[in-house]
Amino acid sequence: MATSTLPASKPAVRSSIGLKLLMAVTGLIFVGYVAVHAYGNLMVLVSAEKFNAYAHHLRTIGEPMLPHGGLLWVVRIVLLASLALHAYSALTLWGRANGARGSRYAVKKNLAASLGSRTMRYGGIALLFFVVFHLLHLTTHTIHPQGKVATPYENVVGSFQQWWLVLIYFLAVTALYFHLYHGIWSAAQTLGMTSTTAARARAQLAGHVVGGLIWLAFLIPPFAILFGIVG
Ligand code: HEM
Repeated sequence: MATSTLPASKPAVRSSIGLKLLMAVTGLIFVGYVAVHAYGNLMVLVSAEKFNAYAHHLRTIGEPMLPHGGLLWVVRIVLLASLALHAYSALTLWGRANGARGSRYAVKKNLAASLGSRTMRYGGIALLFFVVFHLLHLTTHTIHPQGKVATPYENVVGSFQQWWLVLIYFLAVTALYFHLYHGIWSAAQTLGMTSTTAARARAQLAGHVVGGLIWLAFLIPPFAILFGIVG
């Protein structure tokens, strides 16, 4: 009987499932965050006052129980911790998958599954670069291609009047769509929710609907600004 070079003990299997669960839970935190963020961005369509008030409100929620910007810092810390755990789980599982592929006894993965995991890995790395760019652009204002401006509304409108910035955001938000779609599908698999054909179809639909709505909500403001409907 053939013996695998991989440790096939129960704890190792359990810890892989544990890591996948960790990815699912932290992923869910990101889904919640991007959904609220995309909804908040839509305020730019209402008016400059509404959007600036929304940006200001982000810093005053919870006052005086919390200091100015307190809740925003709580959100930032939760997001950073989730990012660290999400990336750690992804890299560990990636390393294990590579190890398994090198093994003589590893079962050949099917093409669709490896395309899905490649999309997740490289898409995830691209999103990480985008988030750094995005923070430098709209949070710290280190990158300000539209020149120095006074309010969040002017900043967003001035930015998306430039086609190349709309293109960068379009590519990033589209990468986010694929990441959310595959992520929701993988999470459903981890949670054992894809055992029947109907359940698989439902998980795929959920991925398309959640990913698609967030894609649309994020992209409406930049295109509305680019085409002069807003601003
Ligand atoms: C068209 C798409 C987007 C627009 C117009 C937009 C707009 C903004 C703005 C205006 C801010 C600054 C908020 C403030 O400090 O007042 C911000 C912050 C942020 N955005 Fe976005 N965003 C977009 C897409 C995304 C995406 C796709 C992600 C994640 C993948 C993301 C993640 C973040 C994060 C993490 C912050 C920092 C929040 C903080 O700590 O202050 N954004 N965004």
